Amino acid sequence: MFSTSIQISNLTLINSPSWNVHPVYCSNVVVQGLTILAPVRSPNTDGINPDSCTNTRIQDCYIVSGDDCVAVKSGWDEYGIAFGMPTKRLVIRRLTCISPTSAVIALGSEMSGGIEDVRAEDITAIDSESGVRIKTAVGRGGNYGSHPDNNYDPNAIPVIQNINYRDVVAENVTMAARLEGIPGDPFTGICMSNVTISLSQNPKKLQWNCSNVAGITSEVTPKPCDLLPDQGQGKIRACNYPEDNSPIENMEVQTCSSFRNRW
Ligand SMILES: *[C@@H]1O[C@H](CO)[C@@H](O)[C@H](O)[C@H]1NC(C)=O
Ligand SMILES: *[C@@H]1O[C@H](CO)[C@@H](O)[C@H](O)[C@H]1NC(C)=O
Ligand SMILES: *[C@@H]1O[C@H](CO)[C@@H](O)[C@H](O)[C@H]1NC(C)=O
Ligand SMILES: *[C@@H]1O[C@H](CO)[C@@H](O)[C@H](O)[C@H]1NC(C)=O
Repeated sequence: MFSTSIQISNLTLINSPSWNVHPVYCSNVVVQGLTILAPVRSPNTDGINPDSCTNTRIQDCYIVSGDDCVAVKSGWDEYGIAFGMPTKRLVIRRLTCISPTSAVIALGSEMSGGIEDVRAEDITAIDSESGVRIKTAVGRGGNYGSHPDNNYDPNAIPVIQNINYRDVVAENVTMAARLEGIPGDPFTGICMSNVTISLSQNPKKLQWNCSNVAGITSEVTPKPCDLLPDQGQGKIRACNYPEDNSPIENMEVQTCSSFRNRW
């Protein structure tokens, strides 16, 4: 907690009873080359949970979890709002995840301090329930409907906007997407392009279940819901990955060799 310039690298973590790596109120965090293994039926065994952190890079990790492989957090309900420290400028790359009952990358559920500028690329998911799962609720955060106490603000509604997905290939899928905003609080600016989803032998009848969301799509199969109208071919640039670099993207990992030499 409350640390800067943290490096956690080249470790194997096995059978944690709960979240494995949980930096809170930190900045300049590099988590690299970790293997994290939990039984896939074990609850709450998230892999890596950046929580109210700025400038975090998660790279080259292999995670098997009974919960989310990466879960981005920032405080629960009125406590997260009062503290007001978002997780921002998070980069996740070259992650391989097995999460049969949960998500490869989750935002929330406790995200009351805000989450901004999360970038994920080169992600491989095997036998996982969801690719990306954004979990939130009125009161902002909360375990879907549950709250830490009765002092949460029922009028505090989350703002979910500008979520891009591109260059996604998914196989053996039972349901393309469930995109459920909050009545009176639509989730907007959703953009999907170049997404190819092949269905399983017994897929759900309703492939896109959308409510209270707005956005656009281009070159997405199967055909998305009407709330995400198809812009036609050649609009792939619409949901581009940001071109600027976060400072943490190029931070070099430090090794201990200079210490070894000295001693
Ligand atoms: C579409 O996505 C696939 C899979 O990631 C990728 O190989 C391909 O280059 C993408 N097409 C364009 C035009 O970016
Ligand atoms: C598709 O997923 C089902 C389980 O949902 C699994 O039994 C089956 O082996 C998978 N098929 C392929 C081709 O991966
Ligand atoms: C679609 O989502 C709504 C919630 O937004 C849910 O109540 C409904 O059961 C879902 N329908 C299907 C067929 O999954
Ligand atoms: C971690 O392992 C990689 C690959 O073996 C190696 O190149 C790197 O120097 C190691 N990093 C640290 C900090 O030990």
